[in-house]
Amino acid sequence: MINLATQIGSLKLRNPLMLASGIMDEDAGSMHKIFKSGAGAIVTKSIGLKQREGYPNPTVVELEHGILNAMGLPNPGIKEFKTEIIELKKSKIPVIGSVFSSNKKEFVELSKKMQEYGADALELNMSCPHAKGYGLEIGSDPKLVKEITSNVKKSTDIPVFVKISPNLMNIVEIAQSAEKGKADAIVAINTVKAMKIDLELKIPVLSNKIGGYSGKAIKPIGIRCVYEISKNVNIPVIGVGGVTTGEDALEYIMAGASAVQIGSGIYYRGIDIFTKINKEIETWMKNHNYTNLSKLVGVAQK
Ligand code: DHB
Repeated sequence: MINLATQIGSLKLRNPLMLASGIMDEDAGSMHKIFKSGAGAIVTKSIGLKQREGYPNPTVVELEHGILNAMGLPNPGIKEFKTEIIELKKSKIPVIGSVFSSNKKEFVELSKKMQEYGADALELNMSCPHAKGYGLEIGSDPKLVKEITSNVKKSTDIPVFVKISPNLMNIVEIAQSAEKGKADAIVAINTVKAMKIDLELKIPVLSNKIGGYSGKAIKPIGIRCVYEISKNVNIPVIGVGGVTTGEDALEYIMAGASAVQIGSGIYYRGIDIFTKINKEIETWMKNHNYTNLSKLVGVAQK
């Protein structure tokens, strides 16, 4: 029997695959569908205190080897989101509430609300690559990362994950700051800052000009980040970036990830991607005489 069960802090998962934040995760219906399609847990869209419209279109463009987007953190606001979490929790689905803010106080308020609504864990978004005052602007300051994490930890009692950016020279220092703030896990990576120019119009394609690149092209960047981070922290790392096959997921796991998130992969392989990747991991493990996935975590570091 192959055992794919994983545990991150106190969060127990039937398998290591999570839906990444930002894809089909704004309403309970689609999140429920993804769970039924085999995901071990669901990460919600990043939610803020107040409703936001996001940027005008174009907000997404498919490129040769990945997807470029700048949505602008559109979300209904935390109070409106309550009904979605409550609906989802009726089916006992492990839900990780993603939150974003520009300051400590709001991060705490959002996190407490997520917990109150029933989230099983929190993902602090400190890595959105293009929203002024949010995400990466906070996530590149080690002191702030530690303080926000620590304040959220002191005000909640569910596991706290900190999602960090690849657009940093000091990624290990940032991960260690989250660890010092008592984060239960690091999530790496968010999208890579990128741009596409329209040759006929001679302007950037996205309305926000700069966006975040995801999909196959960023996998080697994610693998390197997970490898470097997990070598230098003593908490679990959750890998994300360009996972489309079981082999991709195994690569992240061997680099040091205890679980893996999938976002753009859904675009390429449909929502069944979770079942498909679980099967592909199992097949690889059978062929290589492994029964327990945890035995493979970080093996590439030896
Ligand atoms: C958005 C993009 C991100 O990379 C992120 O972490 C959160 C939000 C967005 O454009 O909405």
